[in-house]
Amino acid sequence: MFGALLNYEQKGQAITLHYEKQSVQIQVLTNRVINVFVPLKASEHRSKAIEGNKELPAAFTLNKADDHLILATDSLICRIYDDFMIDFYDKEGTLLCADYRGQRIPRFELSESFIAFIKQEGHDVNDTGSRNHPVQCIKQLDAGDCIYGLGDKTGVLNKRCYEYENWNSDIPDPHEDCFKSLYKSIPFFITLKEKGIYGIFYDNTFKSYFNFGKENDQYYSFGSDDGNLDYYFIGGDSMPEILANYTYLTGRMPLPQKWALGYHQSRWGYDSERTFRELAAKLRELRIPCDALHFDIDYMERYKVFTWNRERFTDPKAMISDLKKQGIKAVTIIDPGVKVEKDYPMYEEGIENGFFAKSPDGSVYVNKVWPGDAVYPDFGSPAVRKWWGSRLQFYTDLGVGGVWNDMNEPASFNGPLPDDIVFTDENRPATHAEMHNVYGHNMAKATYEGWKSLTDKRPFVITRACYGGSQKYATAWTGDNQSLWSHLRMAIPQQCNLGLSGMAFIGTDIGGFGADTTPELLVRWVELGCFSPLFRNHCALGGMNQEPWQFGEETLAIYRKYVNLRYTLLPYFYDLCRECEQTGLPIIRPLVLHYEHDNHVRNLNDEFLAGEHLLVAPVVEQGARKRMVYLPEGVWYDYWTHTAYEGQQYYVIDAPLDVCPIFVKAGTILPKAPAQMYVGEIEDPELLLEVYPGEGSYVHYHDNGEDFAYRDGAYHEYLFKTNGKGELEITKLHEGYKDYPKIVTSYIS
Ligand code: GLC
Repeated sequence: MFGALLNYEQKGQAITLHYEKQSVQIQVLTNRVINVFVPLKASEHRSKAIEGNKELPAAFTLNKADDHLILATDSLICRIYDDFMIDFYDKEGTLLCADYRGQRIPRFELSESFIAFIKQEGHDVNDTGSRNHPVQCIKQLDAGDCIYGLGDKTGVLNKRCYEYENWNSDIPDPHEDCFKSLYKSIPFFITLKEKGIYGIFYDNTFKSYFNFGKENDQYYSFGSDDGNLDYYFIGGDSMPEILANYTYLTGRMPLPQKWALGYHQSRWGYDSERTFRELAAKLRELRIPCDALHFDIDYMERYKVFTWNRERFTDPKAMISDLKKQGIKAVTIIDPGVKVEKDYPMYEEGIENGFFAKSPDGSVYVNKVWPGDAVYPDFGSPAVRKWWGSRLQFYTDLGVGGVWNDMNEPASFNGPLPDDIVFTDENRPATHAEMHNVYGHNMAKATYEGWKSLTDKRPFVITRACYGGSQKYATAWTGDNQSLWSHLRMAIPQQCNLGLSGMAFIGTDIGGFGADTTPELLVRWVELGCFSPLFRNHCALGGMNQEPWQFGEETLAIYRKYVNLRYTLLPYFYDLCRECEQTGLPIIRPLVLHYEHDNHVRNLNDEFLAGEHLLVAPVVEQGARKRMVYLPEGVWYDYWTHTAYEGQQYYVIDAPLDVCPIFVKAGTILPKAPAQMYVGEIEDPELLLEVYPGEGSYVHYHDNGEDFAYRDGAYHEYLFKTNGKGELEITKLHEGYKDYPKIVTSYIS
């Protein structure tokens, strides 16, 4: 396709290579991030994920060898050949990633005539043959390579041997392991080799395809229907370094408000002020900590966003203020679809200003969502984002605490939006085919920026649809799961992969959204879910009620135990958020993130780490009262019994219904808070430090948990050190907030 390399020119850290048939560009963004760019569609990058100039001064050399060019930074070597074949090596010369030169040989391919026959008979063809895409890249796959990331894809942690698509999809059917796409399109993956590791961020918003060795074990491919071949090779010595570099490029989750880490209660069908008041009272009466109630579409006037149904909610402002007095924030759903209705201000304003997506003939495009006929705000346009953001005042004036963006794939009930619907990409018209996968991302951006300009608090925005980089604007959940044991199991790899894709603040609907939960499933789900950064029980209209008190005393008591556990661990979770903002490390982590050289964890789907210090092995099988747990190297302490276990071994651990096996790494200094019904119930809580045997150190962060003052230094940062002999050293690394009234230390033995 490219032909021979004729010549090249260097301008700063960018090198333009002229091949016989196409000119391409390589840019050294940092010593570890190299961009490969083939301008098939446009001469500029048009990234939605990467904002601002990410190029950092990086020394590199560019030399000619016999048949190729050698570009070398202090960390990576990149050899560039004819036909624009590129191979990446680490600085020791170990091959990390090579373009595949061999023939494409699908494991199984139907002949074209047979496919034609099947189609003629009216059947769908689902062959596993090779698929060429207008934009594509094929890389060598080595024995032992494992592939992680790619956002919220279903199935197992390691994506090798599977194929996926990126096309944000609202699929109401029970999510199966074999689904190719779901709500989010995050074209980032990490290849962990027997020796070496790298990441690739394939920055293309069109419908994209990833075949991680399903077609053939010798190679993997990524490609798209359209756009540029634009990818970032991301180097690093370990998985955390790859993530740090990826999130340097696409941004990191900003520190959330502390209350957002509390418990959230939700369901579709909470339909009146009375219901919400009763819910709050019940939560408090039953002593279940809670920081937020979610208002699903039923709060609106006939599903019209930016309205409030005044028959069922006579005085939303007073209700929200009363909830707030009990320590409970209101989080309201806002869908993108604006109802087509005369005199409805959001519709009229949008029409007047040309803010909605259009058909190619210039007429406003109409499809159907919850409110019936609806139009789609064109969030790719800065003016639309600004308009939408400013209208959020409707909610901030009422005292709403956060926004839940849903249906922003965008979903449509009247068939898919045609590819040629006209949207905007900043300052130029662009098609739905190009903007679909970033629709939710742009809506989250509009919401985050609007909210930020209206309040002095850190915005709390949830989104269902995402693209790479959405972590800068929103937390996310995995959408409409079901009350199925298989979905509880899937929650682990799914959240781990989201974390490995930059999205750190994530969660699943606890209890399951669709279908009906059972007491046992709900209990096991909260045992897992209390470690999800977004900790929300939510279910669908028509499903069985699944609040913690619906299934009797035993369920309630266990549920309460785990919500309480979460609240006592809040300082730890908050520290993890701070760490994420600084390093890109997620909160929920697969074991492979910290133990990548341990072959036992590369395909471990049913355990995870919450930060580096806690290992969680939830029970995800109905009826199980014991489970096998693998502990990686080091000594680990059972959180409940304090029994010590030597790592690099499997153990069968007792797990009666009220026990989620949790292990604490030796040398951990676990920061905890006293029990509270909501964040801030105790104005100035003490800090409780639980010190585990062994040597260790821990950095702890403390601020007001609400606004952006910390960015001007209004925070405390502590370094705690334990020598394993009952002595704890406390140093202040930064002093800009107030001291704890007391730091209480307890030693685990
Ligand atoms: C979508 C959401 C779900 C919500 C429902 C009604 O299915 O994913 O969480 O409850 O719409 O708004």
